[in-house]
Amino acid sequence: MKIIVTGGAGFIGGNFVHLMVNTYPEDQIICLDKLTYAGNMETLQPVMDKPNFQFVKGDIADRPFVYQLFEDVKPDVVINFAAESHVDRSIEDPGIFLQTNVIGTGVLLDACRKYGIQRYHQVSTDEVYGDLPLDRPDLFFTEETPLHTSSPYSASKASADLLVMAYYRTFKIPATISRCSNNYGPYHFPEKLIPLMIANALNDKPLPVYGKGENVRDWLYVEDHCKAIDLIVRKSRVGEVYNIGGHNERTNLEVVKTVLRELGKSEDLITYVTDRPGHDMRYAIDPTKIHRELGWLPETKFDDGIKKTIQWYLDNKSWWENIISGEYQNYYEKMYANR
Ligand code: NAD
Ligand code: DAU
Repeated sequence: MKIIVTGGAGFIGGNFVHLMVNTYPEDQIICLDKLTYAGNMETLQPVMDKPNFQFVKGDIADRPFVYQLFEDVKPDVVINFAAESHVDRSIEDPGIFLQTNVIGTGVLLDACRKYGIQRYHQVSTDEVYGDLPLDRPDLFFTEETPLHTSSPYSASKASADLLVMAYYRTFKIPATISRCSNNYGPYHFPEKLIPLMIANALNDKPLPVYGKGENVRDWLYVEDHCKAIDLIVRKSRVGEVYNIGGHNERTNLEVVKTVLRELGKSEDLITYVTDRPGHDMRYAIDPTKIHRELGWLPETKFDDGIKKTIQWYLDNKSWWENIISGEYQNYYEKMYANR
């Protein structure tokens, strides 16, 4: 099979490319990535020389470019990870989120329609369901939970999901969607909670916790997410949505304290800062459907995954130090200086 993986130089896409290239030597993996601030060729270094891997730099929202790529490659499968992915950035500047996440998805779908495709898979997020109250631990997101978004990021992802379902129904594009909870693991960009806290703790810098740190996220080790997507693409029926998550709910404060404990650092580093506007309280996935239909279960428990992740950041300092020493400093200053 020829598989185009968009956004493969980012966190989850990069982990997915590694898994595909190594698991399926008979498949051809073509990574299409614009290399925005979040894309990093160092993430792809371990697969660059593999005969079944190819990298192409480009924008999923660039219609002539995408059509030409489809003509050249004639892909059997497209898996769309490419996105602007950070909620805080979407609050600062929503425009690029509409361009990449909505228009870009539309261009990919049009290319599938024009050239034909065996499977289009959209990597979506549990954030399309909005949030759950903290005092109702009995509630979970199922695939039937209505879309109800909070941030420009989640609104753009929900819009893309609606486009995918419309193209499935109207044009019979053989599409699927997965909606996963928060990922963590290697190659996670240090603007996100867990890698940010690891990097700051290692540098003895304050750990900025939004509000009271009581918001709950449902953490999944990135490799478990990648395996779930692989199963969906190869085994599921078309036109289906699958939630992905492993019942690993933690408050932000619990996560931050775990990172500090693992690194032997003091909790005095925790600094409470102004809350994120519109901050979602709790995410929690019900993964019953993917378990029943495809047999998927997460393999990594949070307590093991967080240890492995911290060890990766200790062993790969140059990967994240290169990021935080560059343009990222301006971002950090802007986001956190007066918070
Ligand atoms: P990321 O920000 O780490 O990576 C995004 C990648 O997409 C980067 O390599 C970037 O260069 C590329 N990209 C951005 N705009 C592009 C464009 N116009 N054309 C081509 N490439 C472009 O994101 P991530 O955390 O790896 O998330 C990947 C996908 O998974 C996203 O669609 C996101 O919504 C979804 N998701 C993320 C999480 C999470 O916890 N990180 C959870 C559920 C779903
Ligand atoms: O649920 C899936 C989503 O998870 C994905 O769709 C998004 O792409 C991904 O970025 C992530 O979104 P979150 O907003 O949940 O992740 P983030 O790491 O930005 O924040 C996690 C929690 O930590 C959230 O409640 C906000 C809080 N936080 C975050 C940062 C960056 C802090 O308290 N301090 C911080 O400095």
